[in-house]
Amino acid sequence: MERFKKIIKSLYFLFGTILILVVVLFSVLLYYNSNPDYFLVDKADHEFWTPKDILNDPLKNFIDPEVQYGFLLVSESPSQMGPQSPDASMRYAGNNLKCTNCHLKNGTQAGSGSWVGVTNRFPQFGARGNKIGTIEDRVNGCLERSMNGKKMPVDSKPMKAIVAYMEWLGEDIPKDKEEEYKGFPSIKLPDVAANVNIGKEVYNSQCMVCHSENGEGQRAADLAQGYLYPPLWGKDSYNHGAGMHRVITAAEFIKGNMPFGEATWDNPKLTDEEAYHVAAYINSFERPLKSLAENDFPDKKLKPVSTPYGPWEDSFSEEQHKYGPFPPIIEFYNRKYSIVKTK
Ligand code: HEC
Ligand code: HEC
Repeated sequence: MERFKKIIKSLYFLFGTILILVVVLFSVLLYYNSNPDYFLVDKADHEFWTPKDILNDPLKNFIDPEVQYGFLLVSESPSQMGPQSPDASMRYAGNNLKCTNCHLKNGTQAGSGSWVGVTNRFPQFGARGNKIGTIEDRVNGCLERSMNGKKMPVDSKPMKAIVAYMEWLGEDIPKDKEEEYKGFPSIKLPDVAANVNIGKEVYNSQCMVCHSENGEGQRAADLAQGYLYPPLWGKDSYNHGAGMHRVITAAEFIKGNMPFGEATWDNPKLTDEEAYHVAAYINSFERPLKSLAENDFPDKKLKPVSTPYGPWEDSFSEEQHKYGPFPPIIEFYNRKYSIVKTK
């Protein structure tokens, strides 16, 4: 009798366990039915996702040679597509900057106009050309302005390689991470004009040690390598048509990235005002001129407010477009044209 009771108890236990398992299995299936993504992409993976790092990729030798060539072009620009190239037909860049002097960590640093996921955002409307522009147009924009050079044919080998590198960088980015890597941190625009004297004080204490007293930076021992610390003004810097020549854009870049090695998007070192004044200071000096800059932004209403060269669709002075205060200009476009500008 005792034995029989024991068997019954064990059977109860067994069936009970089976029942629980069946219920759990059905709940999982039901949940899967309504949220299949949950199982396909592990949420935890998103949090720990980091951009690809071509130099330390465990499968480095298997990366598509086109991608590797693209990386070489953007990271060793002076010798690969700049003034130091032995092949004159490859001298697209006119200065000795590397693309990665501004698009930090080989284009993967959030807050420096990162390229991670950038190809997903193109083609897109660009006000500077007033047309839908491709990623190749955008690269050419930086070649002609930031690199003070000339356009690369869209179907040339180097252009295709640069785009291949950018595509490779964005291959595995989770959708919800794209925003985090896009663009530059924003700053609260002061109601006063940027003051180059305050900017000079910030420069002397926070920037000069690397970028030198006269903004010429420090060349690498091997000239083909460009700069250890790139120039911020003068003849080997970006030209006056570049995005970095707009005080607002430069202030945003500086806030998120400079002083180098200290500031990040999440952890800036300068206040918004300091970044604003120092951006004005570095942009107050001479630099190469972009030819035909007056033709930029065919629809003048769409010109960023801190574009320092005319013509504009308003009557604010050249001085105010260069140094601010910007809120009154932003307010004008909002009132007159219902255009909401941030830069
Ligand atoms: C002097 C700094 C500088 C250099 C050098 C530079 N860029 Fe840029 N780049 C910028 C800035 C600033 C922007 C954003 C401009 C704006 O907001 O109008 C930008 C934007 C871009 C974008 C679009 C990013 C996006 O999220 O839409 C791409 C792509 C790009 N650059 C590629 C390149 C390539 C390729 C090179 C080298 C040939 C290069 N850049 C060199 C400063 C630079
Ligand atoms: C510790 C050295 C160091 C300090 C300090 C420093 N920078 Fe830089 N800066 C760099 C380096 C290095 C780069 C290029 C980054 C790269 O290639 O990875 C750079 C790039 C830049 C660029 C974009 C490239 C160009 O030539 O236009 C700007 C603009 C800039 N710095 C401004 C500043 C400003 C403004 C400050 C002061 C607030 C500052 N930097 C402080 C080292 C420094």
